[in-house]
Amino acid sequence: MTVRYFVGITGASGHAYAERLIRALVGRGQGVDLSITEAGCKVLRHELGVDAGERGERLPDVLADWLGADVAKEVRSFITGAVEAPPSSGTSLGGGAILIPCSMGTLARVSVGFSSNLVERVADVCLKEGRPLVIVPRETPLSEVHLENLLRLKRLGAIVLPAMPGFYHRPRTIDDLLDHVVGKVLDRLGVQNDVGARWKGLDEPQAEPGIGRDRP
Ligand SMILES: Cc1cc2nc3c(=O)[nH]c(=O)nc-3n(C[C@H](O)[C@H](O)[C@H](O)COP(=O)(O)O)c2cc1C
Repeated sequence: MTVRYFVGITGASGHAYAERLIRALVGRGQGVDLSITEAGCKVLRHELGVDAGERGERLPDVLADWLGADVAKEVRSFITGAVEAPPSSGTSLGGGAILIPCSMGTLARVSVGFSSNLVERVADVCLKEGRPLVIVPRETPLSEVHLENLLRLKRLGAIVLPAMPGFYHRPRTIDDLLDHVVGKVLDRLGVQNDVGARWKGLDEPQAEPGIGRDRP
């Protein structure tokens, strides 16, 4: 059965994670509702060269070029301020929301229920309705304020899943690193997942040593 997941992209670095997640969800037969914060639109342009406009108003025009027509047709996009959009109501039946990557600003606002745009409002709705809310924070180092906000959200029921890929599966490419995080997101959503390698133990046959192996 197709479930719609809300993907909220913010002004944190790591938009490649979001792209990989959208592709993975649609590739597994799921639908995606997408909104990007104003800062997120700037970072998207900078990191991936995708011009979504200042508030995501150009997304309908650029989605097919960005993600390919087959993926784009399963993605409904909403401008940043569309707090009237269907996902902003508790009556809409989505499968949950993923804020990926999640900035410390959005993290702070969601942790105190301050909903200034659609991404923050949908996160707030997930918390009040008890739906999955996966937060993929990206910042380093973390201040005490960041840590307190993360703890508050964890206690409120969010899943805190930092953009922090492991290296024990011997990744060879950046996509392997992205998949390590995206696969964990899919697992938490209960979406059937063959993205990212699963650990089988040290005695099992391993991939060849990957990133880091060739360093002098
Ligand atoms: C290129 C670029 C990279 C950024 N990376 C991060 C980051 O990794 N984490 C973070 O918390 N903020 C980062 N910021 C700052 C946020 O974009 C900024 O705090 C913004 O106000 C967040 O707004 P939003 O939460 O509404 O998206 C970055 C900004 C730029 C321009």
